Amino acid sequence: KTALRIGLAGLGTVGAGVIRLLAANQALIARRAGRPIIVTAISARDRSRDRGIDMAGLTWLDDATELAAHPDVDVVVELIGGSDGPALTLARRTLGAAKPFVTANKALIAHHGRELAALAEANGAPLAFEAAVAGGIPVLKALGEGAAANRIVSVYGLLNGTCNYILSRMESDGLDFGTVLADAQAAGFAEADPSFDIDGIDTAHKLAILAGLAFGAAPDFAGVATVGIRAIDKADIEQAAALGFRIKLVGLAETADGELFQRVHPALVAQDHPLAATNGALNAVVIEAVPVGRLFLQGRGAGEGPTASAVVADLIDIAQRRTGLPFGMPVAELASLPRADSATREGRYYLRLS
Ligand code: HSE
Repeated sequence: KTALRIGLAGLGTVGAGVIRLLAANQALIARRAGRPIIVTAISARDRSRDRGIDMAGLTWLDDATELAAHPDVDVVVELIGGSDGPALTLARRTLGAAKPFVTANKALIAHHGRELAALAEANGAPLAFEAAVAGGIPVLKALGEGAAANRIVSVYGLLNGTCNYILSRMESDGLDFGTVLADAQAAGFAEADPSFDIDGIDTAHKLAILAGLAFGAAPDFAGVATVGIRAIDKADIEQAAALGFRIKLVGLAETADGELFQRVHPALVAQDHPLAATNGALNAVVIEAVPVGRLFLQGRGAGEGPTASAVVADLIDIAQRRTGLPFGMPVAELASLPRADSATREGRYYLRLS
């Protein structure tokens, strides 16, 4: 059978992970996809860096945006990152050339999701970004497909492994913020600029995408009221524990009276809530929906294997030609939900989950 040929932009942790996963599970991926999935072309900043992968026989392009028009590329996988710049140019060119575009880039989709979904639809090209939200947890497929018949009441969770790791270790080991941040960076799941993690921006990117799918709207990143975890110290964590709570960086989206609330901030989570048992670098998402009720998904939200798992799942969907619409419905059906004053709902950033 004809192989599905991938052009890969970006060879950091996740890019190398995609190559390794395609090789490690080659036979079963080919069976599930109905045809082999192979990487034919790559582009990354540094050609000489040893990534422990065999790149013989692959076409190397210095300019990632040239992957879009390359004759040996059927699908582009974008792992460059950044909401604009080459990632955005590559997305526009790929979808404009009617080729499928797969990305793990939450900033790109949070900022340009509607435009790219419209471009995808106009050109009949799949746009898939399961890896952009909660890494290995298939939450977009859960929302957009599994729960598609439901009215979503709220979607919330722990969407940043770095913050969850920092807060968990501050509690379990009594360490201070700076020490644990350095550990998280060494472990490889912090963003290149860790302020995106600890100031809640990464969580807000992911929340805007989740809210889009949950409520049939385009992502509205600018509408997320965001506070990070810099101000949390050991004393806060100890006091919360004494009262029966854990402090977590929660992202929450819900609608009320036709308005959309989107908030990211440290929250008190009751110790018997499933989010409180989600510690270390794990992510978790709760979907409250009617009629299904509460869905709880937990897993690894960052790192090589989990993120590659989600990227390759999107590629298998594309190989099978079973990709859904990026936001679960045609772009013309997407609502523009008015922004609620998210900061003042239930008091200033106060949220107690039980
Ligand atoms: N920096 C992110 C995190 C990586 O810590 O969760 C995954 O998006």
